[in-house]
Amino acid sequence: MYMVDLIQKKRDGGLLSDEEIHFMIEGYTHNKIPDYQMSAMLMAICFQGLNQHETVVLTNEMMHSGEIIDLSSIEGIKVDKHSTGGVGDKTSLVLGPMVASCHVPVAKMSGRGLGHTGGTLDKLESIPGLHVDISKEDFIKQVNACHLAIIGQSGELVPADKKMYALRDVTATVSCIPLIASSIMSKKLASGSDAILLDVKYGDGAFMKTKEYAKILAQTMIDIGKSLGKDTRALISNMNEPLGNAIGNSLEIKEVIDTLNGHGPKDLLELCLTAGSQMLIQAQMTDNVITARKMLQDTIDSKEALRCLQTMVKAQGGDDAYITHPELFPKTKEVISIRSQQTGYVKSLNALTLGLVSMKLGGGRMVKEDSIDHSVGLVLQKKIGDYVKKDDVLVKVYTNTGLTKELKNQIYDAYEIINEYVCQPPLIDEIMK
Ligand code: URA
Repeated sequence: MYMVDLIQKKRDGGLLSDEEIHFMIEGYTHNKIPDYQMSAMLMAICFQGLNQHETVVLTNEMMHSGEIIDLSSIEGIKVDKHSTGGVGDKTSLVLGPMVASCHVPVAKMSGRGLGHTGGTLDKLESIPGLHVDISKEDFIKQVNACHLAIIGQSGELVPADKKMYALRDVTATVSCIPLIASSIMSKKLASGSDAILLDVKYGDGAFMKTKEYAKILAQTMIDIGKSLGKDTRALISNMNEPLGNAIGNSLEIKEVIDTLNGHGPKDLLELCLTAGSQMLIQAQMTDNVITARKMLQDTIDSKEALRCLQTMVKAQGGDDAYITHPELFPKTKEVISIRSQQTGYVKSLNALTLGLVSMKLGGGRMVKEDSIDHSVGLVLQKKIGDYVKKDDVLVKVYTNTGLTKELKNQIYDAYEIINEYVCQPPLIDEIMK
């Protein structure tokens, strides 16, 4: 078999056989197929697509290109959650403790932030001492002991995706639904959970810019999960404004603690209750959404979920005093209030711009090698639908490097304020299964 023939076949709209997909992924993973041929194939896939069977086979081959985590020594049905990423998305850190407090084991491998989106691992690492590089044995021990562990992805997981993603990044072949779906699902499936809940976001702060594309991506991933024997469901959620109010690592951890103490932002809690109730149903703790929501709300009212987070932080070497005393988190040199220049209602809020401002303050990475300042970021005081008077504070900027005129203008430009009343947009459009 020759890679050039496969490229030609896909270029002309043909279907790749199971053997051909195996040849391509096995060959590329083991450096038998060069980057230039894989680039041509990825571009051919972008133009011609993959059908459902090809996408499932591709995912399965990618998943088997490296280690597959065996979580069978953890008792109970393990449900993993994955978000396609957004600004201010700290859901896993609230949802994980809530679901784990309902006795569902949460063994989660998370990622780091890049560009305008933050990463769960970076947020967690704002707690002094906490580490996320834990051996598989300790990971499993921790989940068995306290039902919750959130760690970095094993270096051996899906090497095919590592190589392909790096190539896609520099060949304009990232935004292709079958490639995104197989990339995400190969990693989720290799992580060993029994069921998967996806939070597929759409909007300017998300990877998928429209609801329609988000739904196609969600359906593609659900089909992959089901074909490979996993109960897979997806929320379709709105990322046209940041989730919650805080953007930035330790600021987001403080918002997580507030939420688990019962006074977090409504949208964040609602997303966690909706996602969590699907996870409890997937874990067969109940078959009823209302019961599931009550079980989850109880974990907040009783502070059980907060204690669960504290236990996880301690188990991973972190100073758990920060959970009970969030005022311990280092303060920035300055907190600058950005005030509205007009009266009216917030019509729109550009999540992408605000995520980029937080990154430029030092809270995120432009490239993988950048180091980050965990203390900086933004806390929104007004969101879509809110009434604003002239001089009201729109955003508090936490900074160690001042605020340039350019960044200040970007924050102003992120807000659209109009005279007419504005309804809040729906946060969750649909639950697909
Ligand atoms: N996230 C991934 O893991 N893979 C993609 O292709 C896109 C987003």
